[in-house]
Amino acid sequence: MTFDKVYQYNFPTTIRFGAGAIKELPAYLQQNNLENPLVVTDPNIAQLPFFKSIISGLQHKNISTEVFHGIHKNPVKSDVYKGTDVWDNTARDCIIGIGGGAALDVARAIVLRINHREDLFKYDDLVGGDIYVTNKVPPFITVPTTAGTGSEVGRSAIISDDETHQKKILFSPKLLAQIVFADPELTMDLPPFITAATGMDALTHNMEAFLAKNPHPICDGIALEGISLIKDSLETATKRPDLESRSKMLIASMMGAIAFQKGLGVVHSLAHPLSSLLDTHHGLANAVNIPYGMQFNIAGFEDKFRRIARTLELEEETGEAVVNYLFELNSRLNIPHRLRDIQVKEEHLDTLADLAFADFAHPNNPKPVSRDDFKTLYTSAL
Ligand SMILES: NC(=O)c1ccc[n+]([C@@H]2O[C@H](COP(=O)([O-])OP(=O)(O)OC[C@H]3O[C@@H](n4cnc5c(N)ncnc54)[C@H](O)[C@@H]3O)[C@@H](O)[C@H]2O)c1
Ligand SMILES: [Fe+2]
Repeated sequence: MTFDKVYQYNFPTTIRFGAGAIKELPAYLQQNNLENPLVVTDPNIAQLPFFKSIISGLQHKNISTEVFHGIHKNPVKSDVYKGTDVWDNTARDCIIGIGGGAALDVARAIVLRINHREDLFKYDDLVGGDIYVTNKVPPFITVPTTAGTGSEVGRSAIISDDETHQKKILFSPKLLAQIVFADPELTMDLPPFITAATGMDALTHNMEAFLAKNPHPICDGIALEGISLIKDSLETATKRPDLESRSKMLIASMMGAIAFQKGLGVVHSLAHPLSSLLDTHHGLANAVNIPYGMQFNIAGFEDKFRRIARTLELEEETGEAVVNYLFELNSRLNIPHRLRDIQVKEEHLDTLADLAFADFAHPNNPKPVSRDDFKTLYTSAL
């Protein structure tokens, strides 16, 4: 870090965190004169008892709710347009996203679209589209139900093209939620596989953010504490969930997302094409790739890896020990070590390497990653 220039650091979201926080939602809406929310979720969550109970809690207070749940596992542009149609056809005054990263990203993209009606991908941050996000956006509230993406505290939405499946990133500080109701009790019944995969996404965010090349000591501190919380709780949350492990994972996932305003890296670029091409869950794609991506990053960054190893309380304070820890953690969580175990085939590798090289995450990796590096990494992980 150099000390002869000016940096900008933002930490603006109000987070109500803790068991029972969701019970405050109706009163918050009433105090802010918001009585007609559009609730955005996914089709699976829409059927779960905790979701139905949130909706009936709102209706009980005479808050008229309209639920939109027509979204894909890896959300696409047409999902956002359909949700916006619901807003247009029913008189709504705010948007509440309830769910994992997929539902929260669609909710955030609808927030953008309400007063920005050009083609959605005109606002793609990768082509400088954020400058067109100039109009007002409706009030936005988020309620996470997984502990992984941290999308609830984010300012971006990842939405894919319906045909090409390429992931686009919509970004603007205007897309931050006004308030997050982060209630670990909503995550209590997450199945073990989703707990493990989303938790590994959170771990990847914290590790990649810590290593990302932009100087940001505030985020570095948050990321190391996030790593420590995940070390303490991910295995318990997966195998014997209790309020403590669920709470630690939920706060650590938000810390990961706050920290990665600093940037991500090679692991996310390895993971994104797997979701685009093979519909792999985002967290699973990160989990399988993280040991290989971290191995790639060690040389030249031994000091940073020493600090990660110390945070993980490993006997040996080296990058190699961190990589071994990641393989072992995957084993304990029943996550495969090899891409071939998650439907990747040799013939996919060239396309994957092209897509990874075009991805938005790796420019912030601590060291440059070439297209050949991606091919080599995929080949060693196959
Ligand atoms: N905006 C960002 O900053 C950001 C960052 C990383 C990833 N993402 C995006 O997030 C998405 C992945 O999100 P995710 O990992 O949270 O998974 P997800 O939203 O796809 O949810 C995974 C599954 O868990 C189910 N589920 C969610 N909460 C549950 C609960 N409490 N109980 C039982 N089942 C529950 C969902 O219905 C779904 O089937 C991807 O689309 C990815 O691109 C966004
Ligand atoms: Fe992620």
